[in-house]
Amino acid sequence: MALRRILITASSLYFCLAVDKNNFKTCDQSSFCRRLRNVKPDNSKYELDLSSLQVTDDSIEAKLVNTEVGAQFKFSLTAINGNIFRVQVDEVNPLYTRYRPQFALNGEVQLAKLQILDRNKDSVTAQYADNKAVISARPFKIDFFKKDSLVSVVNGRGLFTFEHYRKKPAEGEAEQAPEDPGAWEENFKSHHDSKPKGPSAVGLDVTFPGALRAYGLPEHGDRLPLRTTGPGGVDPYRLYNLDVFEYELDSTMAIYGSVPVVHAHSPKHTVGVFWHNAAETWVDINNSKDGNVMSSLVNLVSGSKSESSVEAHFMSESGVVDLFVLMGPSPRDTVRQYASLTGVAPLPQYFTLAYHQCRWNYNDEDDVTSVVENFDAHDMPVDIMWLDIEYTDGKKYFTWDKIKFPHPDVMIGNLTSTGRKLVVIIDPHIKRESGYFLHEDALANDYYVKTKEGNVYEGWCWPGSSSYLDFYDPRTFDYYKGLYALDKFVGTTNDVNIWNDMNEPSVFNGPEITMPKDCLHYGGWEHRDIHNEYPLAQSTATFQGLLERSPNRRPFILTRGHFAGTQRSAAIWTGDNAAEWSHLAISYPMCLSEALGGISFCGADVGGFFNNPDVELLQRWYQAAIWLPFFRAHAHIDTRRREPYLFNEDVRNRIRAALRLRYAHLPLWYTLFWEHETTGDPVIRPLFYSYPSDENVVDIDSELLVGDSVLAKAISEAGASTASVYLPGGSDEYWYDVEDFKLYRGTGNFNIPVTLDKMVAFYRGGSIIPRKDRPRRASSLMHEDPYTLYVALDSKGSASGRLYVDDRESYGYKNGKYLYLHLRFENGQFSSSPIDKTDYPTKEWVERVVILGAPKGTVGANLSSRSMGTVRLETSYSDDGRALVVRKPGVSIREAFTIKLN
Ligand code: GLC
Repeated sequence: MALRRILITASSLYFCLAVDKNNFKTCDQSSFCRRLRNVKPDNSKYELDLSSLQVTDDSIEAKLVNTEVGAQFKFSLTAINGNIFRVQVDEVNPLYTRYRPQFALNGEVQLAKLQILDRNKDSVTAQYADNKAVISARPFKIDFFKKDSLVSVVNGRGLFTFEHYRKKPAEGEAEQAPEDPGAWEENFKSHHDSKPKGPSAVGLDVTFPGALRAYGLPEHGDRLPLRTTGPGGVDPYRLYNLDVFEYELDSTMAIYGSVPVVHAHSPKHTVGVFWHNAAETWVDINNSKDGNVMSSLVNLVSGSKSESSVEAHFMSESGVVDLFVLMGPSPRDTVRQYASLTGVAPLPQYFTLAYHQCRWNYNDEDDVTSVVENFDAHDMPVDIMWLDIEYTDGKKYFTWDKIKFPHPDVMIGNLTSTGRKLVVIIDPHIKRESGYFLHEDALANDYYVKTKEGNVYEGWCWPGSSSYLDFYDPRTFDYYKGLYALDKFVGTTNDVNIWNDMNEPSVFNGPEITMPKDCLHYGGWEHRDIHNEYPLAQSTATFQGLLERSPNRRPFILTRGHFAGTQRSAAIWTGDNAAEWSHLAISYPMCLSEALGGISFCGADVGGFFNNPDVELLQRWYQAAIWLPFFRAHAHIDTRRREPYLFNEDVRNRIRAALRLRYAHLPLWYTLFWEHETTGDPVIRPLFYSYPSDENVVDIDSELLVGDSVLAKAISEAGASTASVYLPGGSDEYWYDVEDFKLYRGTGNFNIPVTLDKMVAFYRGGSIIPRKDRPRRASSLMHEDPYTLYVALDSKGSASGRLYVDDRESYGYKNGKYLYLHLRFENGQFSSSPIDKTDYPTKEWVERVVILGAPKGTVGANLSSRSMGTVRLETSYSDDGRALVVRKPGVSIREAFTIKLN
């Protein structure tokens, strides 16, 4: 693989993109997946011993027994504030302690009081708010009810499995049943997994009666609704962070990130589960609407063969069973419940929402400077320049190539003097070169991951022979944080942010291009136990390092590998995609799936990483990508240069228009990110999230909602002359084309004529969108610009929105230094008033109010505010009469005001 990657890197001849599937296991090639998939349903051998039941104010505990082999487990059910149940199972007196993820949860969970409603020899019924859990003893099973509807069943199919640690049977020793040949050691290609602790898998099935679709389980190059998998059919969704070269689409194969959360949805109810386990995990999904035989359970509980259901079967190689049941009842609730467990993305600096320009690589300091100059010369905005691995001295991170980047401080100064920022890459593999300070420090202090024999592990990555920092060792973690200090990472400044890549971790010569599972981390944990969490450990350390470096700046980090909880430290992108229409198309579903997994700050390489996009694809990609939270162009080292100013005038004009539309909406994005931090609501949302009772939207993933006010559609085919868009919300819902303000009334499919210039996006009637419409070269130059407030009226002539403002980079907002405004329009009057009693001394003011669907016959308006008194304002209609423009209110955004139309 290493050789192949290097050969391909060195050549530009890779027209035919295709993943080499031989490098990656199927479920059939994985012993524990085989074992757990072979568990037969409706024959559970696990029973709760209710005579051991212990009930406290907030927990129920009992012994769980594998009746076949007698192994004993500790079962507990707790309730967590916010309508969540937690089911945990661990071994009683295990041979080895079992791993629990250390980085995913956002601190301690808050337990809620459980009330026991009933308890007899066969079952216990517990209630918390309007949620109920009925725990059955024989066989072990839990039914979860919201109000009185059964919404999920744990172990309803009897697939629960807990392989207790045991001694390896000596040769010839009688065994109860023949074991899977890979149970105690396993080979894959030339790699051997020694499995010193033997088989230790855990598995569990969850049924969602009534569910029509399930979503979640990022990251896969796949559509948003989860498809049915199953033996003989599609492989289970695999969650195992992997660096998959040329990953394929429409696939359940693992790629860089793993977020084990599922949201099961129907127009009546949404419920979710979070499988809190960091080991390799496979998840089989069975959606009854896909025609598979429904389990007898669902027929039994629904009393009808026609009711839909979804079943999920989680299978992990090690760790404990720790399942959070997110009781809903709406998609907003399950997403917020998940956020209450794993946290939210803290408000990023404003510039991070602007346009990022990357490629592998900007060659030297002059190249960086000249790219920015060219953007300026062509009046195209850009905020951030990125440096890929070639900026380093021989792929030694935290160093600079002295020939190509001799004066990084000067280069960074040039960037910041025009309001720009820099991001540089720092990977977790460390070049094994004597004299390299980091390697020497790591060897001297024992900071590296070890082999199973306890030697420093060596693998192959970009620098050649490398070792890998063990972020699980608190000393390594602390040391690593310190590397970002300005006097350590010489040449950097507070305006330099970080890109953590290859942190799955990628090991070119390792099994499945990653680290062997029997490698050892601090605390004696095997890599097997922590694998999916490793990148989160790195991005957490980086986040803390940047915070220590620049205590009053919000860190920005981009990470490729990710896990549940990554949102608290980093943004993500969808990795090495390709310059193909299908990859543009999948960027929306992939990021929507991440947003449901708590990670809203997501984007895809604009233009496609591998290969060269034609100009149509490139333009369409920009037009679509302005509606994803993270907006960065990036390209492989062997691709042709494709900075947008390099193209002819038509293309430049179109890309400039897309960039400007993005920049105009930065106040909206920023407000949404703040609201995400305060509520957990995703920044981008699939249609079903906001229109949960509309059955027509459950499969739509080529459209997305930005907050609750914009609907965007990606055009992802060549030569499109129309775009088919579904506009939800019922016949009373109004949608206005973002560019020409044409009004469409939901609900249904609309064929919108498109030219290459046309972007397909709509404002929802009833929303107010804060914009800054003066074109600038960077977002930092817009901070004091005035606002244009777009009022998109609903069918009743009303609208409302919010605007959040602060200093855009510091933590002042934590101390109330911000404005959060409620914007309203009703009865012919616009008003702005503070939601929170806070203040921020901004000079920003209102330049225009544009009312879409405005009442006819308006002539002028009166503005009233404390400092301005009452002022007469001019109004005018756009030529086509679609918009009414209220000119120059001139009022400070800091003041409450009203504008009454006459
Ligand atoms: C990985 C990243 C890619 C980067 C390259 C070189 O392939 O996914 O974005 O350009 O490494 O660092």
